[in-house]
Amino acid sequence: MGVRIDGKIIAQSVKDMVKDMVKKTVEKQGITPCLATILIGDDPASATYVKNKHKACKDVGIITRDHNLNADVLQSELFRIIDELNADTAVHGILVQLPLPPHLDEFATTSRISPLKDVDGLTPHNAGLLAMGRATLIACTPLGVMEIFDYHGIALEGRNVVLINRSNLVGKPLYHLLLARNATVITCHSKTRNLTELCQVADIIITAVGDRDRFTLRPEMIKQGATVIDIAISRFHGRLVGDSDFDEIIHKVSFATPVPGGVGPMTVAMLLKNTITALGGQTDKS
Ligand code: GUN
Repeated sequence: MGVRIDGKIIAQSVKDMVKDMVKKTVEKQGITPCLATILIGDDPASATYVKNKHKACKDVGIITRDHNLNADVLQSELFRIIDELNADTAVHGILVQLPLPPHLDEFATTSRISPLKDVDGLTPHNAGLLAMGRATLIACTPLGVMEIFDYHGIALEGRNVVLINRSNLVGKPLYHLLLARNATVITCHSKTRNLTELCQVADIIITAVGDRDRFTLRPEMIKQGATVIDIAISRFHGRLVGDSDFDEIIHKVSFATPVPGGVGPMTVAMLLKNTITALGGQTDKS
């Protein structure tokens, strides 16, 4: 029987550390960290995610600015709001909740954010620094996954890692983070032909597909004693599920994350940490 990775406990340890850092920033510099979020449209899942982020900020003493825009907001208006937040010295982090309504350009929108305030690590500047091993602001979910590995002492060097995702927010940052830790990383996607065989030789599988009609990580795809990190979350037959069934795979693995309660809480915790990191980049005089 493998170890159930409890994301809530690990996230709490990160939040405790951030809370302490917030307290010191307020006391020593007289600055209260502030995160601005922009939510566009009325997708209930996105609204819930943003609400959770605001609550977590409040828990650690980070103040928030909340922008809720209509689904039909013009690209030019969205740019104007981002420009205003970029120029506002009281705002240290900016997050535009994704996905955007189809008429808005995701790349142009996230690229508009100042790299210094880019708590998602999505600007070309920060994505480029990550590829070169020099990033300070890195996407929250990948950072959360790395935190899980370190918390449990899960070795990465020389291990075969199969990533099932290639997005800018998850797969690509994780690829660079894992490579920097000397893992051998294979990035898989919808056109990968021998996914089962690749998974079967993986020491670590990190999966983020989020569509059970298309993909399930079955126990027979997992090597005995491997680690499975399930980043996906979707509704399937009325239940919140990941890409795998935790109860089925836990017998076969060394470690696995449940859904919910695995990676999800880590994403929020790392957003708080990134807000403090961003503040540091804006107040560092050296
Ligand atoms: N939508 C789902 N996950 C994320 C995230 O980490 N950041 C942003 N901005 N949007 C998301």
